[in-house]
Amino acid sequence: MSYNISVIPGDGIGPEVIEEAIRVLNTIGEKYNHEFLYAKLLAGGCAIDEYDEALPAETLVTCEASDAVLLGAVGGPKWDTLPAEKRPEQALLGLRKGLGLFANLRPAILFEALKDACPLKPEIIGDGLDISVVRELTGGIYFGEKGEKDTEFGKGAYDVKMYAEGEVKRIAKVAFEMAMKREKKLTSVDKANILRSSILWRRVVEEVAKDYPEVELNHMYVDNAAMQLVRDPNQFDVIVTGNMFGDILSDEASMITGSIGMLPSASLGENNFGMYEPIHGSAPDIAGQNLANPIATIMSVAMMLKYTLGLTKESDDIEKAVETVLNNGYRTGDIMSDGMKSVGTVEMGQLIIDEIKK
Ligand code: IPM
Ligand code: MG
Repeated sequence: MSYNISVIPGDGIGPEVIEEAIRVLNTIGEKYNHEFLYAKLLAGGCAIDEYDEALPAETLVTCEASDAVLLGAVGGPKWDTLPAEKRPEQALLGLRKGLGLFANLRPAILFEALKDACPLKPEIIGDGLDISVVRELTGGIYFGEKGEKDTEFGKGAYDVKMYAEGEVKRIAKVAFEMAMKREKKLTSVDKANILRSSILWRRVVEEVAKDYPEVELNHMYVDNAAMQLVRDPNQFDVIVTGNMFGDILSDEASMITGSIGMLPSASLGENNFGMYEPIHGSAPDIAGQNLANPIATIMSVAMMLKYTLGLTKESDDIEKAVETVLNNGYRTGDIMSDGMKSVGTVEMGQLIIDEIKK
């Protein structure tokens, strides 16, 4: 089979980690006889430099026509002084909305070999961690009406958080389906003691729950959820929540796994089309120095193979290779600990490739 992959390396460490992910994907292609064709596209700060816009129309059109999208990271200090609507981050929002990617899957898994990197006490973390955060990605406060107005306290600015029933229903379904494949436990996070949008959210989630009688559903206010994540993270299996709460809680969950450099994500639309990217940002301070951890991007490729291309065996192959390399003691700087072997971006990629070839 032949697959068309749109590749957006982006800014900072984006291009380096994408390079390794593509080398890994090519290795899978050779091993299993698949052809991966790449269209390299600009988005983010590099696109602002070249075209004066974060998301050129050509990038969106090419992504739409491809089988899947692989993205590195966007942004950096160079563009931080631009007004909000011109910043590199707008490329991400434009891609999510433009491609209809309403479901953001952010697994937080603590690898056995990295247990020491977890900042929580061993008695809290127990056997490890395996949580899946399902974040709504094209609605809520990120995309609500925005504006400015005069108030009695001077100039004000506002962002409206609204959710419609259909939006909640489709993300809830994704989360219930995910729970069915896992421990059959779902926590819906909201702020229904205060927010009208959360009261609606909770009602719709309850309605969808009727179709999944096997899944044990509970609701939690977001402030409590933030606290419970560090108090007893293993009480969670799948978490479903809105755009902004999901943004915050997925960063918190990722830190429990020791390094944000480890975690992949998938942003899915209808029909399994998806954009895959590491959870981490562009890390401009370490860019171009062969220091970045490519594992999150390589694991994103594994998610792409599984969720969009339906190549489960190939996906497992990558995950196993990553695990073996970690078990063998190889570490990039972000996950380095005493007695381990320190390697750079390219070496880490190569070790994973060698493992896949075995
Ligand atoms: C994320 C990021 C983005 C978000 C930013 C860069 C716009 O934090 O993907 O979590 O808030 O969604
Ligand atoms: Mg975030």
